[in-house]
Amino acid sequence: MAIEKNQEIVEAKIVKFKVFRFSSEESDEPSFKIYEIPVKKGMTVLDGLIHIKENLDSTLNFRYSCRMGVCGSCGMFINGLPALGCHTQISHLNSDIVEVKPLPNYYVIRDIVPDFNSLFQKHKSVKPFIIREHIEELGNPTSEYFQTEEEKELISQFTYCIKCGVCSSACPTLATDSEFLGPQAISQAYRYSADTRDEGFLERIKILDSSHGCWRCHFASSCSQVCPKGVDPAFASQLIKREILLMRFGLKKKRKGAPITTLTKEVKRLEEIPEPPKRTLR
Ligand code: SF4
Ligand code: SF4
Ligand code: FES
Repeated sequence: MAIEKNQEIVEAKIVKFKVFRFSSEESDEPSFKIYEIPVKKGMTVLDGLIHIKENLDSTLNFRYSCRMGVCGSCGMFINGLPALGCHTQISHLNSDIVEVKPLPNYYVIRDIVPDFNSLFQKHKSVKPFIIREHIEELGNPTSEYFQTEEEKELISQFTYCIKCGVCSSACPTLATDSEFLGPQAISQAYRYSADTRDEGFLERIKILDSSHGCWRCHFASSCSQVCPKGVDPAFASQLIKREILLMRFGLKKKRKGAPITTLTKEVKRLEEIPEPPKRTLR
């Protein structure tokens, strides 16, 4: 089959999409529906679903926004593995059948739209923000907190999380304990606790060191294998366990958060970093 684009004729291969269909509001049992779509080089699984929605079946439901691996909306179970639909090229699957199901370990709202309430609640529970004893400075900053390049590197990898929930859908512990915090929340608890500007480790420990906290993680590492952003939540989970053990044995000193600084001769903004925009919220 040939499809036309910008006056150029591109040969396309026909691929079968086997898509999970379900509605939590209707009494129907889950089922699969097969669609045949023309696929050309560079097309992603998300592109395939958009083609179905626009040309074959407008009742199909799925979630997406950025189409470039940034917003974290399009996690789905593709040919047996959790991944981002916009990050998975159909040709890389080496198959004439693409099976698309909703991410495991979440309730399904409709078709391949998972309910992320549990993901976001757990994320929120680990206080994913900088905590300081002096909250006045946080609310009305007079300057910036000083952090070196090396200190930033300690957390850099874990800041790439886009909250797509793909890691948690691969976690065998979450599959058997729905209250387990899961790799996404644990990695973000570490990301903030290891941030030298933060003073909130003791607050996060209440939830991390609980019966559904980080000790339930047995380092299967499937979370890290499927993370599309290279965050390595399994590693973060081990690092946070180390911090908790050091604290239990009295070997962890209470850390004073990074000091605030003025941009003096010693501490200068790098030329390539633009000035921040003016605050819009007061
Ligand atoms: S750790 Fe990776 S897989 Fe998990 S939510 Fe963040 S970006 Fe997604
Ligand atoms: S390493 Fe821990 S958090 Fe990651 S998949 Fe395994 S049990 Fe889950
Ligand atoms: S659509 Fe935004 S990550 Fe896929």
